[in-house]
Amino acid sequence: MNKKNRGEKGFKKFPKQAALIYDKITSVKAQRKLYEDIGIFLSNSIKSGKLLEIGFGAGRVLESVIKNNKNIEIYGIDISNAMVELAKGNIKDTKVNLIEGNIEKTEYKDNFFDTITCTGSFYLWDKPVKSLNEIFRILKKDGNVYLFETYKEYDKKDFKKSLKENLKNENIILKLIGPFFIKKQLSLTYRIKEIEDIIKLSNFKNNFNIEKIKLGNLSIWAKISLKK
Ligand SMILES: C[S@@+](CC[C@H](N)C(=O)[O-])C[C@H]1O[C@@H](n2cnc3c(N)ncnc32)[C@H](O)[C@@H]1O
Repeated sequence: MNKKNRGEKGFKKFPKQAALIYDKITSVKAQRKLYEDIGIFLSNSIKSGKLLEIGFGAGRVLESVIKNNKNIEIYGIDISNAMVELAKGNIKDTKVNLIEGNIEKTEYKDNFFDTITCTGSFYLWDKPVKSLNEIFRILKKDGNVYLFETYKEYDKKDFKKSLKENLKNENIILKLIGPFFIKKQLSLTYRIKEIEDIIKLSNFKNNFNIEKIKLGNLSIWAKISLKK
């Protein structure tokens, strides 16, 4: 599955209103718990140093990192200007350095970050190998990367049941459009084997691990750990 136009271009042109709707849809309790849990995981595993989040969207993971650990220097890069403005409004912390840009080629110095992360963004990148090599360049030696991504061969029956539970107490609009967006993401996402094949073509080929995990009550996620 190697489409040239995977979705990043759509996000680059994302209108302000669409970004606001994205934030609304992802405000369901289970999704906020997912952001909170990733933020807690990063806060506990990093302790201090420079963290970069790629494709931070509305900024909810970074919000959780800031709440849970004040010693981490936070950076973010997102291809969508509307998302950058939205996240700046949500985070309201002047020390956080959020910029508009494509992870495929950045202006960060070599060996700059201690940790790099992203949630639900890797599947959209048009040039995933080139982007992984850029991540390798800007990551310090012994630095860690944690990518949280959905994968294609998830358990459909379990997903249906858990999604219904997640939306049980949400309003009718979210009950109707929430599933549409998550199913759209799952239709575009990679298989685990495809993720492995991409990593094997990058500078991270000798040091990676992929683990299937449950996030936001859904068993559709993989934690992809890479080390320089
Ligand atoms: C599905 S959203 C996920 C947002 C957020 N991480 C979340 O979990 O809610 C994907 C995000 O990745 C960003 N993105 C897509 N391709 C990118 C790229 N090549 N470089 C930087 N950001 C990118 C999009 O603009 C968008 O904000």
